[in-house]
Amino acid sequence: MINKESPLPIYYQLEEGIKKQIEDGVLHPGDTLPSEREYSEIYSISRMTVRQAISNLVTEGFLERKRGKGTFIAQKKFKQNLKGLTSFTEEMKKRGLEPETIMIHFNKIPASITLAGKLEIEAGTQVFEIKRIRLADGTPMAYESLYVPAHLLPELTIELAKSSIYDYAESMAGLEIGQAVQELEAVTAKKREAAMLEVKEGSPILCIMRKTRLKDGTVFEVVDSYYRADRYKFAVEMER
Ligand code: GLP
Repeated sequence: MINKESPLPIYYQLEEGIKKQIEDGVLHPGDTLPSEREYSEIYSISRMTVRQAISNLVTEGFLERKRGKGTFIAQKKFKQNLKGLTSFTEEMKKRGLEPETIMIHFNKIPASITLAGKLEIEAGTQVFEIKRIRLADGTPMAYESLYVPAHLLPELTIELAKSSIYDYAESMAGLEIGQAVQELEAVTAKKREAAMLEVKEGSPILCIMRKTRLKDGTVFEVVDSYYRADRYKFAVEMER
């Protein structure tokens, strides 16, 4: 794994070597990583070099540190294609995972001028303000903060919003979700988001801002979703 004659830095070679072992299935998600001491003895390299490689792999999401327990091989990242306008529930089901929602906040409020501008409604119009943690097989994946004009989903309840809002809108409220524009931005988890997503404060988070319209052009929702960067990567298809 390590070639001391190579111009590549040793920590980098170790990093690539560990990544390859994960890819080849030599190291499995959930396995404990050999200790710093073991790596340094096996390859006759300094523990500081090993530490640097490990900490880079933790930042990149290949490894996971559990306090008092050690370093583990992380679960593989989800690759979500940004082409289709899918819901969280659909994405998880497609992967054979059980979606679940923890409702943090569900309220009807009058839209502020800024929010009204985004939703293209009059300021003061009633909107649902919904904040939810989305889980897959019990693991928090994303935290969402969502606004929908209340008149579009007049019968929406907490129970329905804990399930799939897209499913409810289309199959029960008779709405036709049409298209969306998304912006993606890298942020770090603040205390509150870190607690909800069960990551350390300062961890990398992918923030996706989505504005969705119905087929007739009406704005249906504006949503900020915070995805764990150690669990997610997004793929964009491009044509020339
Ligand atoms: C994704 C999108 C959100 C959307 C949500 C609907 O998470 N980023 O913009 O509101 O899906 O999910 P569901 O239908 O599961 O409530």
